[in-house]
Amino acid sequence: MTKTSPAMRIAVVISGSGSNLQAIIDAVAAGQLNATICCVVSNVPGVHGLTRAAAAGIATELIDHRGFDNREAFDQALCEAAHTHGADVIVLAGFMRILSDEFFKLWTGPMLNIHPSLLPSYPGMNTHERVIADGGRWHGASVHFVIPQLDAGPVIIRGACPVLPRDTAQALANRVHAVEHRIYPQALAWLAAGRLNLSENQVLLDGTRHP
Ligand code: GRF
Repeated sequence: MTKTSPAMRIAVVISGSGSNLQAIIDAVAAGQLNATICCVVSNVPGVHGLTRAAAAGIATELIDHRGFDNREAFDQALCEAAHTHGADVIVLAGFMRILSDEFFKLWTGPMLNIHPSLLPSYPGMNTHERVIADGGRWHGASVHFVIPQLDAGPVIIRGACPVLPRDTAQALANRVHAVEHRIYPQALAWLAAGRLNLSENQVLLDGTRHP
């Protein structure tokens, strides 16, 4: 009999629609990602991502940041939820808050984020609008390990898509979303399979520098 390692336990943290969460749920269900989503945490009440989680039978937690005196207290509650649900990894999927330094003291496990640009280009907000305004020909998304500096952690995978003539920000966002739904489950599958490592701030896939 072969011994299989227990599935990686993922806490997904959202603030909105949760289409990336859905892609991860679907990848787990399809057997493409050896993981269990142990909880979905939202800092915003009533978002569609919470409905998606409940429909998939996943535990949900609402941790409304407005109920906390300061950023550190919210971050502590978020970290406690991940620990309570036995998470091995935190996956930020459209989570629209900046984490404090305190968070990085409390959570020492892996944490991933998806950002709608080809990092290191276009960190920050409104990436689709900025790429169009700059006349960029290519855009896309990146999955990266999270470090205290915003959108600056080591990149695990990038996915590109073209910017088409007369693209609106929404049309471009839709194209980028399709890329995101492919690359986030892929990055998590690599992590779950133990194929990702970090060496001096550089991602290694199967021991080789990547991407
Ligand atoms: C995505 O574009 C992601 O890159 C960004 O927030 C958006 C979340 O979308 N961080 P969704 O909630 O997963 O649909």
